Amino acid sequence: MDTEDDALAWTRDYTPILRSLAAEHGDSRPFEGYTIAVASHLETKTGILIETLRDAGARVLVTGSEPYSTDAAVVRALDTQEGIELFVEADTTEEAWEAGQHDLIEREPDFLLDDGCELIAKAHAEHPEVCRQVIGGGEQTTAGITRLEAMESDGVLEFPVYGVNDTPMKHFFDNVHGTGESALSNMQITTNTMLSGKTVVVAGYGYCGRGIARKARGVGARTVVTEVDPRKALEAHTDGHRITEMAEAAEIADYVITSTGSREIVRAEHVEAMSDGVILANAGHFDVEIDLDGLEALAERTTQPREGVTRYHLADGRRINVLARGRLVNLTGPHSSGHPAEVMDTTFAMMFVAAQDLLTGDRELAPGVYAIPDRLDRAVAERKLETLGVAIDAPTDSQREYAADWEHADSSF
Ligand code: NAI
Repeated sequence: MDTEDDALAWTRDYTPILRSLAAEHGDSRPFEGYTIAVASHLETKTGILIETLRDAGARVLVTGSEPYSTDAAVVRALDTQEGIELFVEADTTEEAWEAGQHDLIEREPDFLLDDGCELIAKAHAEHPEVCRQVIGGGEQTTAGITRLEAMESDGVLEFPVYGVNDTPMKHFFDNVHGTGESALSNMQITTNTMLSGKTVVVAGYGYCGRGIARKARGVGARTVVTEVDPRKALEAHTDGHRITEMAEAAEIADYVITSTGSREIVRAEHVEAMSDGVILANAGHFDVEIDLDGLEALAERTTQPREGVTRYHLADGRRINVLARGRLVNLTGPHSSGHPAEVMDTTFAMMFVAAQDLLTGDRELAPGVYAIPDRLDRAVAERKLETLGVAIDAPTDSQREYAADWEHADSSF
């Protein structure tokens, strides 16, 4: 399907890598006979990945990785397509979302492309007989890889999984630029406020936090970073951000954005120190980075001053605003459309090649979490450059010899 007027049409124009993969594999159909499950925020870019897998021969089963990030228009665009089966609806409940995931797993997919390790963890916990037949998986998030590594060290992981998040092509672009731009733009659209001249506190200076802080400073905000890793703190300091503890940052914040992958980063004791009107948002995978129970306990009542904003009214009159119920602000807010399509094009191309390598390649891997081979990462980077029409140098023979000659025996070097 490639029409000009369906919900995916706009995004097709900005996902040239996926379109080139679909074109290349449309005849050879490497996934013919395989069933691939996709658990992801179901928005337009995911729709293009799903179509690409199907065009390459797979039967694709689809669920959400989160109950509130499913786009109704994308559901409609995919629902009628051959070779694609949906196990999620827009505006669903947590219970219905969970039930959909279990229904999907019971269809015995061969491969699981996951987001947050939701599907893989559920399959292991409640469908062990299905897990034993699964050939492999791919995981696109930092949070999901942390869970997978915990499963691996507990000795329960039943199949090999490629940690797609950890490839350079994923975390340098998706986490840094994708999260940086989409988290901030969603916060601005949701609140209709200006970041310039404001104090933006970013909790966590990993890939995502670095992107958020860098881009906030780019539009003129004063940036403050909180960290627990001394090297990351030093990096943020050297990049020119102010580093301090959350207890102090809370006092001066106009905005606080969490992106740590941990929990209870903003707690009641921090809220006690915040100014009236502060805006809190989370860009980390799970909705546990802002302690909403603690905030609830401090508040006399809550209101909804704008769509996507929950306002907590404290007894002394201060108002604390939380965006998107503390869930991923760039994916679950009322105006959010996730990462820019060009960024997801590379991430989803990595998911595609991960599936291709494990399903159709000649690697025999024991259960475990694996880095994506460098050759696949480079191949996606080359394809991306091609779509941009950008040429780069190739090393000369002399340069290759120089790199291989550890003795530097040739005096001409
Ligand atoms: P990362 O591991 O590179 O960075 C996390 C940083 O948080 C680390 O530097 C760590 O030291 C720091 N940290 C941990 N506990 C902390 C605490 N108590 N206070 C302050 N800092 C703390 O991870 P990455 O790739 O930046 O991802 C962060 C989160 O964002 C994860 O949950 C990930 O799944 C999620 N993510 C969200 C995306 C989105 O679209 N919103 C996209 C990609 C990742």
